[in-house]
Amino acid sequence: MILSPSMLSSDFTNMESELKALEAAGLEWVHLDIMDGMFVPNITFGPPIIKAMRAKSNLFFDCHLMIKEPGRYIQDFADAGADLICVHAETCDHLERVCAQIAETGAKPVVALNPHTPLESIKYLIPQLYMVLIMSVNPGFGGQKFIPFCLDKVKELRAMITEAKADTLIQIDGGVTLDNAAELTAAGVDILVSGSAFFGFPPYDERHQAFQNVCK
Ligand code: DX5
Ligand code: ZN
Repeated sequence: MILSPSMLSSDFTNMESELKALEAAGLEWVHLDIMDGMFVPNITFGPPIIKAMRAKSNLFFDCHLMIKEPGRYIQDFADAGADLICVHAETCDHLERVCAQIAETGAKPVVALNPHTPLESIKYLIPQLYMVLIMSVNPGFGGQKFIPFCLDKVKELRAMITEAKADTLIQIDGGVTLDNAAELTAAGVDILVSGSAFFGFPPYDERHQAFQNVCK
């Protein structure tokens, strides 16, 4: 299991030390939530901030774009240092094209689905995706409650990936805690995103270990 802490719950005034603390705690990924105030009712940060973070960190930058028309900004995020670029299926009229555009930059192409969006919408794209992100809250804010039906969605996605003979990874984001982490990984999740349940409980090395322990 890979844990990808969501910087949305970190101390924004000390991003450099937060990133360094994650590396020191043995984390390899960090989840960056980009929100535009249009697709979701909140605004965070964009490529300039990611570029500044990139200069201070070697972590794998897992960039979750919650923005309308993400195709207009793929190159900007790649240039800023995104290792993975995740776009929402709901924001792309031509999702296959946007995924190809991401792959062309050298970043890993990923698609996110809102809780109510059917898996069917990405069925044919699975072989070309590095990962699928199942949103388990309505995106926009940290600290929300996990929507229970998303567990079934993970199981169904795992079966679809097996059926497609693909090696696409599954990530879950929203309301992940020490209480549901084991059930989620058993259902087929490879990467857990955690914001409030991670950053709210320092020290980070112990919290990281606690997540790894419950998922064993
Ligand atoms: C929500 C974001 C999440 C958020 C998760 O829209 O995409 O990444 O930070 O936060 P928690 O883990 O607190 O639900
Ligand atoms: Zn996210």
